[in-house]
Amino acid sequence: MDTINFRRNRRLRNVSGIRSMVRETILKKEDLIYPIFVVEGNSVKNEIPSMPGIYHLSLDNLAIEVDEVVSLGIPSIILFGLPNSKDDVGSEAYSDDGIVQKATRFVKERHPDLVVIADTCLCQYTDHGHCGIVRDGQVVNDESLDLLTKTAISQAKAGADIIAPSNMMDGFVAAIRQGLDAAGFGDIPIMSYAVKYSSAYYGPFRQAANSSPQFGDRKTYQMDPANRIEAIREAESDVMEGADFLIVKPALSYLDIIRDVKNNFTLPVVAYNVSGEYSMVKAAALNGWINEEEVVIETLTSMKRAGADIIMTYHAKDAARWLEGK
Ligand code: PBG
Ligand code: ZN
Repeated sequence: MDTINFRRNRRLRNVSGIRSMVRETILKKEDLIYPIFVVEGNSVKNEIPSMPGIYHLSLDNLAIEVDEVVSLGIPSIILFGLPNSKDDVGSEAYSDDGIVQKATRFVKERHPDLVVIADTCLCQYTDHGHCGIVRDGQVVNDESLDLLTKTAISQAKAGADIIAPSNMMDGFVAAIRQGLDAAGFGDIPIMSYAVKYSSAYYGPFRQAANSSPQFGDRKTYQMDPANRIEAIREAESDVMEGADFLIVKPALSYLDIIRDVKNNFTLPVVAYNVSGEYSMVKAAALNGWINEEEVVIETLTSMKRAGADIIMTYHAKDAARWLEGK
């Protein structure tokens, strides 16, 4: 007997009502985190050339931006700061008057329920552009941890709801967890950039954040894109050190890693749909080569299908509108 008469997979695809009943992955606006770049000054709204639609915002314009984020129903933002001055120890990262600290206080006052995530790193604040302290041309681990911990505490003091350390020093989750607990912030979760690859997809972000390393590269602390088992090891250390969320970054070229992390651990998995992934889609869309809405929704859905519970994405505002049919 010819089994083709019994197996008809298309039956479940014939009408849209049935297609939606059997849909396995649902992307929601509640899944999204919107990254925002904040700068000192007034009435600054400068578009980042390689990231159309994404801006450097001073606090007055940040107000308009977060109002929009809230009205779209996006539950969370992550703040990246561009300080006015840099030095070899990244002082502005842990100053109580640092740009991220000011922006955090400002946003929390305006929208107490908007979840504000602070990116905890030094590279935007150091004159050499590395994510830690440099001695004799090397990024040194343990001295960097002290400064990252100070940064996290000052961000928590400013009102950040979640601390997201992106520096890839060894032991950063344990150090920050201890520091937060000792400072009375035992309830603040750590969203760890647990699995962060040394990726060319960060190019537009480094231009946007003025955070390129001034010598060498980040390969001694960020992961080799060729490695898969090592991702498990990285996630495992962060779980043991007390992380509350695990980020995999970038997302699109690392969907297999997202799935591995989802299958091996029980913490919520966050996919970071990074700047270069955004720029590629925007460039093609602006050329009329792809349907931006369909490509963005398909891309974000693929990250959820791979195992992400949450997605950080520069497309968040557009995606939220499209998901609502606006
Ligand atoms: C800094 C940091 C980077 C990103 C987020 N935090 C870049 C880097 O490691 O150089 C990348 C984000 C993006 O590309 O969107 N530690
Ligand atoms: Zn960094």
